[in-house]
Amino acid sequence: MSEFFTYEEGELFAEKLAIARIARTVGTPFYLYSAAALGARYRRFCEAFAAERPLVAFAVKANSNLAVLSLFAELGAGADVTSEGELARALAAGMPPDRILFSGVGKTKRELAAALDAGILQINVESAPELEALSAIAEERGEAAPVALRVNPDIDPRTHAKIATGGREHKFGIPWREAISLYRRAVELPGIRPVGLAVHIGSQVVEIDPFRRAFERMAELVKALRQDRLPIERVDLGGGIGIRYKDERPLDLEAYAALVREIFLRERLDFAFEPGRFLCGPAGLLVARVVYVKESGERRIIILDAAMNDLMRPALYGAWHEMLPIRLSSLDAPPPPADVVGPVCETGDTFAEGRRLPPLAAGDLVAFTAAGAYGAVMSSTYNSRLLVPEVLVSGERFAVIRARRTYEELLRLDAVPSWLSEAARQAATAS
Ligand code: LLP
Repeated sequence: MSEFFTYEEGELFAEKLAIARIARTVGTPFYLYSAAALGARYRRFCEAFAAERPLVAFAVKANSNLAVLSLFAELGAGADVTSEGELARALAAGMPPDRILFSGVGKTKRELAAALDAGILQINVESAPELEALSAIAEERGEAAPVALRVNPDIDPRTHAKIATGGREHKFGIPWREAISLYRRAVELPGIRPVGLAVHIGSQVVEIDPFRRAFERMAELVKALRQDRLPIERVDLGGGIGIRYKDERPLDLEAYAALVREIFLRERLDFAFEPGRFLCGPAGLLVARVVYVKESGERRIIILDAAMNDLMRPALYGAWHEMLPIRLSSLDAPPPPADVVGPVCETGDTFAEGRRLPPLAAGDLVAFTAAGAYGAVMSSTYNSRLLVPEVLVSGERFAVIRARRTYEELLRLDAVPSWLSEAARQAATAS
């Protein structure tokens, strides 16, 4: 909960709007983002680094809705993209190319060319073959690609195994011991203009120590490059700052900023960051409706109209999202703990097990909190369920920023070949 999502007379509001009212217009389930909350998160990040004035490149993968990206663009943010599609979104949202970074371990030649076409600030190269490929493409175009080498610092970020990226066992980055020699190679290669180093150790990191160890390693590399008189103007310190889902004590942003200052004190450098979750996670909710409450033996099961295809984090990472009733009940006797599930035909379609919740009955609305990051972007149409709408609230206004799809649209994505009947006949007799 935050100042942007509050109860007024027992009704949950997003800024100045009753969420139940939006649900009546839009139907459920839907994602809801607070523009004021997004702005406040961004401002908070910038204020922590007021002296450095870094490039704050929003990690588009966390929430790629064009309205959200446009809002960040208006606020002055840049973008960290990891695919041609995300690049297209960032540009369409009005992000200036000179505030765009391109990360990712498997950028194709086509994607590298798209980055050069757009004239973005920096391409974060993650391997020697990628560096060679980019060199060839840029040289042929008579250009010099601005490159940072993404370093793998071999640090355990102490987060969920599926979102840790900074260890030597992970696919990401260039082993830190090889970074200097590859940087030297980058200086020599045609079509490459080395501008710096990048690092990203993982996501939902809640301790400061892994950042300390990774950044110290980066600072050592910067020193070594400068001793070798190799040009370096920028360090990109990635994203990864954790937020509170349950009872985590997320690291203090001011302490994180102080750490960066302390470690890079002696180096004259520009800074870039790639925060995703920190900027948008707490600013979003997933609103759903209770379809049934089922008593199954000893167990109480609350079945929602949202499912794992809409919010995948609980199924994929065992993630915990707080659930709030949209209307507080006047009953004061708390019901027994319940499992909260979706309608998808998988046991994994479970949002919570044995969760203590306020009284809920069929028809009631609930909101999953901290769903603004890695929610809508990770949804799918599994079980032929439609992608759900996204709504942006600002004060007393709201707008649907992605409409609910229709079944016609869903079915139109497939095509049945004209020779299908013949193929079926042949298949029926094939041995
Ligand atoms: N930069 C790079 C290179 C990244 O790979 C990521 C996230 C970020 C920045 C942004 O990280 P953030 O500040 O949001 O932690 N789906 C997962 C999270 C995957 C994160 C992948 N990379 C989840 O729902 O927890």
